[in-house]
Order: sequence, then structure tokens, then C-alpha cells
Amino acid sequence: MKKIGILTGGGDCPGLNPVIRAVVRKAHTDGIGVIGIRNGWKGLIENDTVALDLGAVSGILHRGGTILGTSRTNPYKNKENVEKVKYNYKGLGIDALIVIGGEDTLGVAAKLCDEGLNVVGVPKTIDNDLSHTDYTFGFDTAVNIATEAIDRLHTTAESHHRIIVCEVMGRHAGWIAVHAGIAGGADIILIPEVPIDIEEVCASLKKRRERGKLFSIVVVAEGAKFKKGQAVTQEEKLDAFGHVRLGGIGQNLSELIEEKTGYETRVTVLGHIQRGGTPTAFDRVLGTRFGVEAMDLAKNGKFGYMVSLQGNKIEAVTIKEAIGQLKTVDMDLYNMSKIFFG
Ligand code: F6P
Repeated sequence: MKKIGILTGGGDCPGLNPVIRAVVRKAHTDGIGVIGIRNGWKGLIENDTVALDLGAVSGILHRGGTILGTSRTNPYKNKENVEKVKYNYKGLGIDALIVIGGEDTLGVAAKLCDEGLNVVGVPKTIDNDLSHTDYTFGFDTAVNIATEAIDRLHTTAESHHRIIVCEVMGRHAGWIAVHAGIAGGADIILIPEVPIDIEEVCASLKKRRERGKLFSIVVVAEGAKFKKGQAVTQEEKLDAFGHVRLGGIGQNLSELIEEKTGYETRVTVLGHIQRGGTPTAFDRVLGTRFGVEAMDLAKNGKFGYMVSLQGNKIEAVTIKEAIGQLKTVDMDLYNMSKIFFG
């Protein structure tokens, strides 16, 4: 093996730069060159690349985002683009491609692997909803940011005797809501996996007030839906992978709570603050371990495989296994969190 390529696709995520750095450092140790592909699959369609040497990855460990840029480009939307990807892959003279992404980006990687490209996956998403890995990097950072926000919302909610609804990310799975909600002492946590029963939410808030607690914090994942309702979206347009832009459930919920309980209610949407900025130590370590192991998988010809965290070990699983089914919230954990509702 002489040269490998690396790209980051989908939503950015704290910990991407530690993975890139680890891949380049390990490759350098093994005498292998690294080509960075800019902006996810878009860069491979357009042959937009950059050489990654030790200097290029110096000082990026603590930086959020990705030095390679990213996009939600899906080459399979257009046959011609798939041909361009294959042509450019060949033209770059790389022996393998390390793909860092979530279910969409890795879905493309799995298809390209079937078409003969030597692909290795690294799981990435703040949502933590990829299967066959206990955690994805970026999740811990997002949870810490959301927890700090909930702590801050507590003092203002308490001072004003208000309900504050905090909307966090989580398209299909409520991992961020559950972890940050438990860590921040939320009084109600609402997730995509369990339809929202507004009467139950209001009854719980009333019960809490009756026991003298004049404020409450409700954490809701952006993908949560009301019973019989649909996910709340910002626009109808779909992205290249068929996803809508979520957002707005917090506002709807807060209006309903105020209307039904008469308690003054406010909403805070954390949005992309959860994805930006410096990764936590946990995410830096996980990203570093993933990067080193991904290089080893590539060197050993384990194409079609993805690095994963199982317990405290980094293991290889097939990309297809990982994207086959989303990892939704562990209901034992969610039910445990309910002990602290109300
Ligand atoms: O997939 C990660 C994620 O942050 C989701 O939680 C969220 O729905 C989505 O990305 C937002 O995507 P974008 O940055 O493209 O608006």
C-alpha cells in the first residue's frame, strides 16, 4: 500500500479532525501517503483534493468541524456522478479510501465497495444512531454542550417560575435528549422513539407545580412527534438523501403547554451549537483510536469494514451491518429517566 484517500461526508461533527490527524500520523509512520478529498463525495465527483502531510494536520486535534470540508452529496442521485467517482478514484492512484460519515455517507461507501472500490468506514454522527458501535464520536461533545445549556436554563426558568422547553438535535433517535436530559436533571424528556402525549406532559408539569416546584425544564429531540402527528419541519424540501430539515417541535410544544396549563413557557433551540466547537477529551480519544484502526483495516485489506467501539475495544464490523438498522434509544435507559419526570 502506497497511498490512501480520506473524506468526511454528511453533517460535521466534533472529532472529525482528530480522526483525520490520526489517519495521517499512522500512515506517515507506515510510509503511506494520504490524499484528502474535499467536501465529501462532492470532492470525488469533482476531483477536488489536497495532499495531507504532517504539516497539514498539525494543530487540528482540538479543532471542531473538518479541515476537509463536508457536504451531503449523494453520487447515486445521478449515474454519471457514480462514474466520475469511480474514474477519479482510479485516477488518484489510491489503494484505499477511508470514509468518515454517518448512515448516508457510509451507505454510499457500501455501494461503492460492491462496485469494486477499496473502502473502509469510520462512524460519525452526533446523533449516536449508528448500529454496531456503542458510541460515535461527536455525541459526547453534543451531550456536554446540551447539558451545560440545560444547567443555564435552570437558573433562568427558576427565577421566572417558567417552563422552558429545550429542543436538541436527534433526527431518528433521542440519544442526545436522553443523555443530556438525565445529566441536566430535565423534568421531562421527549424523544422520536416515543410519541408525545401532550395531556400526559401537562399533567406531569402540573403535578410538579403542586409539589412546590414552580419551574420545569422539558427536553425534546427535534425528531419527536405528537401522537397521530408528524415530525415538525422547517421546509418541505428534501436533501440528496431524502431527509427534511427538522426543527420547530419545541415551539409547538411550548405553545401547547402554555395554552393547556396556563404556565408561562419559553423555548430554546440549541441547533448547530451542538455540532460546533472543540471536541471533548472523550471524542478526541475515540476519534484518534478510530483513525489509527481505520488505517490498519485499510492496510490489512479489510475493505467494506468499519471501525466501531464495543465496550472499550475497537472492533471491525461490516459497513452493511452498521447501516442496516438505526440504533434507537435503549428503552431501559429511557424508562429509568422517567423516574425523575415531574
Ligand atoms: O445528522 C446529524 C444532524 O445534526 C441531525 O441531528 C440534524 O437533524 C441534522 O444533522 C441537521 O442537518 P443540517 O446541518 O444539514 O441542517
